[in-house]
Amino acid sequence: MLRSIIAGIGMYVPENIVTNNDLIKYMDTSDEWIQERTGIKERRFAHRTEETTTTMGVEAAKIAIERAGITPQDIDFIVFATLSPDYYFPGCGVLLQRALKMKEIGALDVRNQCSGFVYALSVADQFIKTGMYKNILVVGAEKHSFGLDFSTRGRNVSVIFGDGAGAVVLQPSANENRGILSTHLHSDGESAEILAMYNPGTHANHWADKNYAFFDDATIGEMFMSHSMIDHAQNFPFMDGPSVFKKAVVKFPEVIMEALQQNGYQPSDLNMLIPHQANLRIAQFVQQKLGLTDQQVYNNIQKYGNTTAASIPIALCEAWQDGKIKQGDLVCLAAFGSGFTWAGALLKW
Ligand code: UT7
Repeated sequence: MLRSIIAGIGMYVPENIVTNNDLIKYMDTSDEWIQERTGIKERRFAHRTEETTTTMGVEAAKIAIERAGITPQDIDFIVFATLSPDYYFPGCGVLLQRALKMKEIGALDVRNQCSGFVYALSVADQFIKTGMYKNILVVGAEKHSFGLDFSTRGRNVSVIFGDGAGAVVLQPSANENRGILSTHLHSDGESAEILAMYNPGTHANHWADKNYAFFDDATIGEMFMSHSMIDHAQNFPFMDGPSVFKKAVVKFPEVIMEALQQNGYQPSDLNMLIPHQANLRIAQFVQQKLGLTDQQVYNNIQKYGNTTAASIPIALCEAWQDGKIKQGDLVCLAAFGSGFTWAGALLKW
């Protein structure tokens, strides 16, 4: 049986560091509030005009490809996870294919927000296991800083998010004791609107009875993106933070236990849990619930904020670079976010 191994991993974060105190210039917030509620001290913001989600993904991909000992021309499939694509369409996968002068291979974009990278990894894993592809590039990248409301109105969302990218190269291995052991994908669309960016979109106020603020007086031809939307700041993400938090602290432990149990393991067997970096308080709650030690969980939200689809590959890459993940280690990746979607992956490094 073939297993997918991570043959190379890379990350990229922009140079520009934005501290909590820097945000005070734009909104009514404080370093104390942000650190106490989220654990975040600073985040990176991409260069406004020179960096995009794709360019950051490209930088992370170059490192992952080099570390896998191959060239961009060896990649035979791309899976690119992001919620902040360069264009509404086409996706970032083809832009990365062009930038790295790759062959005319397939490129798939995944739009599963915070669980996007684990979903993307799972898709790639299936193609490797069936023998269809030999070198799949999986990327998670986000440029949030370009689309957040930095006024006080948007502070519950804008203080959380940061920019960056991570990438891995998946390859097949005949060694059953290495690589991805299983992936677990879930969704519950019941609360889709409580963490969402409604516009631009084709909903045409369809869900307005749910009490979430959508555009009001759009006329024909203006439905997708109207002046009114912009005037009412409805072109920014919306989040009912406490509701998301409550669901996250249930679903994170659930999917981690599912992954462990399916493979005959328990929490104490884990060498490293890489939780999606949503909020340090969520990660600490999950750690406590599963009885994990500080050495068993990796967090870097303090430095980068929540980078959505990029957060897991960035954290995984950094943990590995710091020598905290070694060959043979049992590693669990777990994510929860908008949708809701949540996902887990268990692997032997
Ligand atoms: O990765 C995607 C998935 N997302 C998540 O997992 C996020 C989950 N949720 C959270 O992380 C938390 O709910 C937040 C960090 C977003 C918010 O923390 P909270 O402890 O749930 O605060 P809250 O939304 O209940 O707001 C508490 C107070 C409110 O003021 P009042 O009504 O008590 O006077 C907010 O207006 O804090 C206020 N507030 C702020 N104050 C200063 C909200 N944002 C800010 C801010 N600075 N940035």
